[in-house]
Amino acid sequence: MSQQPILSVVLPVAGLGTRFLPATKAIPKEMLPVLDKPLIQLAVEEAAKAGITQVVLVTSASKRAIEDHFDVNFELEATLEARNKQSMLEAVRTTLPNGMTLAVVRQPKALGLGHAVLCAAPVVGDQPFAVMLPDDFIDDPQGSCLADMVALYNQQSAFSLAVEEVPREKTDKYGVVSLNADGRITAMVEKPKPEVAPSTLAVVGRYVLPAETFAALREVKAGAGGEIQLTDGIASLLSTQVFRPHRFKGIRYDCGSKLGYLQANTALGLRDQEVGVAFAKWLSSVI
Ligand code: G1P
Repeated sequence: MSQQPILSVVLPVAGLGTRFLPATKAIPKEMLPVLDKPLIQLAVEEAAKAGITQVVLVTSASKRAIEDHFDVNFELEATLEARNKQSMLEAVRTTLPNGMTLAVVRQPKALGLGHAVLCAAPVVGDQPFAVMLPDDFIDDPQGSCLADMVALYNQQSAFSLAVEEVPREKTDKYGVVSLNADGRITAMVEKPKPEVAPSTLAVVGRYVLPAETFAALREVKAGAGGEIQLTDGIASLLSTQVFRPHRFKGIRYDCGSKLGYLQANTALGLRDQEVGVAFAKWLSSVI
């Protein structure tokens, strides 16, 4: 039997974004721009490079702006057309890359990341799928972290989690994995205290997962922080499925934190064709 392709990505975007208040009072945190694109669009573009065709947003009541961002804005398009602003028109028409469809499901209660992913089950169906956390922006200008993970699945039938080394004092901010001698993930724990963390290899927001993840999540009880954790669902599959760590190319910016967000803007600003040179000059003059 040939293996099922990875066609859907689940983007959990129901969280409140309290670390950026008051900026995120009326705007979802995923709509904060890195230079000129919102975080959510950067994630969707990375998914498009991985051959993903269906984006499944798991949202909550205050997140309408995300759906609107990927929808047609007739008024804006008509105005840009009348003014003959072709490149701007193209930019607003392709927020959702060609060939992709968008589905939206609601997470009625904030019960945790695992619960959010489970809310997407009826739309994803009985298929392997990807999950991306848009707060984690992985800057790989030539490539795509998720595309590399989908290639790993296509070539080796391995499911995978993107990982990176973190300082031991930060293990309690992440899911942390243990590996065996073959490099397979054998255990995974959510937000362990530094003194009990099985390693310093932390999961960042990219996952390629089997369809069985949904059944596993239905069985998971509240874990770290009293929430239904994606980590616990995956952990229960590790004895029956092959999961590999993916040490991604490029740099990951934690755009859920002010420092990471500033770093991401700086990195893209310095590379920007229009303002990069002037920005670099200004930056070196102020430091
Ligand atoms: C989530 C996951 C965690 C992962 C992290 C990556 O945590 O639960 O396992 O390491 O994302 O950013 P959160 O940052 O939502 O608390």
